Order: sequence, then C-alpha cells, then structure tokens
Amino acid sequence: METVDYIWKNGELVEWEDATVHVLTHALHYGFGVFEGIRCYETSDGRAAVFRLGDHMRRLERSAKIHLIDLPYSVGDLVDATKTTIERNGIKECYIRPIAFSGYGNMGLNPAGSEIDVAIAIWGWGTYLGEEGVEHGVRAKVSSFKRLDANILPPASKACGNYVNSILAKTEAVKAGYDEAILLNHAGFVTDGSGENIFIVDDGVLVTPPTSEGPLDGITRDSVMQIARDLGYEVREERLVRSDLYLADEAFFTGTAAEVVPIKEVDDRRIGEPGPITKKIQETFFASLRGDVERYRGWLEYV
Ligand SMILES: Cc1ncc(COP(=O)(O)O)c(C=O)c1O
Repeated sequence: METVDYIWKNGELVEWEDATVHVLTHALHYGFGVFEGIRCYETSDGRAAVFRLGDHMRRLERSAKIHLIDLPYSVGDLVDATKTTIERNGIKECYIRPIAFSGYGNMGLNPAGSEIDVAIAIWGWGTYLGEEGVEHGVRAKVSSFKRLDANILPPASKACGNYVNSILAKTEAVKAGYDEAILLNHAGFVTDGSGENIFIVDDGVLVTPPTSEGPLDGITRDSVMQIARDLGYEVREERLVRSDLYLADEAFFTGTAAEVVPIKEVDDRRIGEPGPITKKIQETFFASLRGDVERYRGWLEYV
C-alpha cells in the first residue's frame, strides 16, 4: 500500500499509524457503516483536483440516511476535510476513502447510542483492474451469488456490510480465472460488477441497467452517460439479461476504482477488443479527469 503521512479522523489529522480502532468497534463485528470511494488526479496544469467530490459526499449522506446514521459532519465539512487531507499530505494523485461507522462502546445490535466515527483516508492506488485490462479488456464471469436487494440490504446505500456480497462474487470469479464478477438480481436481471457499473453497446446504443434493478447509482456511470449523450450516442437505462452481455457489440465497466474498463469476454463468450464507442468514451472520460475538457471542468474540485 502506498501510504501517506496523515489521515483525517473525527475532525483532526492524525499520523497514519495512529488512525486505529479498538477490536470491539461495533462496525468491525456487524459491518454497520457507510463509505465512499473517490479519486484525486493531477490535472494537465499540474494542480490536484478531486473528481465530483461534492457528489460523492452527498451520496455518503444518502447512504447514511438509509441506515439511520446521523453523520456528525456536513457535506461541506467533509469536502473541506478531504481537501485539507490531500493538501497536508502533499500529494496530487490519490484514492480517497471517507467512512462513517458505529464505533466503540456498545456491542448490542441496536446501534442507537453508538458513537459514529468518521475518517477520511487517502493513499496512492493505481489501476484497479490492471493496465492490460484498461487497454485490451477484462474477462468477466456471471456470479452464482445474487446481488443483495432493497429488502435485504439496500444496494442504494454504499454500506460496509453490503460488500461481503461483492467479495463473495469477486473471489469466486478470480478463483475461476476471471478478472471480475457480474451480478444478477433475484429476478435474473444484470445489476453490476462487484465494484463497477456495467454498460453494453447494442447497435450503436449504450444500455445500462436502471438503479431499480439493484446497481449502485454510480458517479462514473452518471458521468459516462453524460459524456455518451454529449458525443451524440443514445443511452438507455434498460433491464439486461446475461445473454444480452454475450451478444453485445461492446461492453465496459465504470467505477471510481476501475475508471472505464472494456469487457472482452463474458462467461467465455467473446465480445472482443475494445470497440470504437468504448474507446471514445474512455478517451473523453480520461481527458475530463485531467481538466482537458472545458465542458466537464465543473466536475473537478481543485485542492
Ligand atoms: C457495487 C458497485 N457498483 C458500482 C460502483 C461504481 O460507482 P462509482 O462510479 O460511483 O464509483 C461501485 C463503486 O463505488 C460499487 O461498489
């Protein structure tokens, strides 16, 4: 792990080694917390800019609301704290992990009365699915584990415990020799990857599952939908079944960690090398992160 000097914890910057928790931290046992994944990039003019920072912190607030977690900080506080953390660590490119979780002092299942601890950690994190994947595409496998749903653990909340579902799917896929898992919901419709949204290109039209089917309301997904529409492509939010993936002209994952990654194969059915629409979207997305596209500069929160 590419560590830095400081982590923000409950209102102050502490040394990396000191940002620890007790073994009886409530969230460690029950997964009761919410988090975000954000990236900061060095722009072409040499400044550090966080991609859609406010949108990520607003999603953190919404995730907390679903779980009746009272965040002790406002979105504005968390935005400022993130910028301070990046500035004080003196780095320009990093992954950012804000987390709010039930702390130490109560081991009952009812979290009412538990302290909510909030931390913002940053570290250097390269390409999540590998450089080779970004260039030539990844191999994905439809998971035997179904995506959790709104009446089990709402996937609309980026909650810590939800990610055991993703870990089961990811582990199964990797052990079987694939790069990433694709999850279906209980009705058999495609939701998303273990930590990415999914798009296919069908006859020039981009299609991604609607959030009502269970995917996270991804911020990269939203950015890519805007980019695609601005490039003149039609984008539809429609249910997909696994054979739609097998027969897609192009397919790709989107996510903060993964960014935009082509899918070259699903369940051993070949989709192929990244197609022209995927490449165009990748190119525009990467340029927007660097501040090179005027129209998307509003997505960047300069540190
Ligand atoms: C399950 C899941 N789907 C999709 C995404 C992509 O969301 P975003 O683009 O906001 O990072 C993520 C990552 O946060 C995720 O964990």
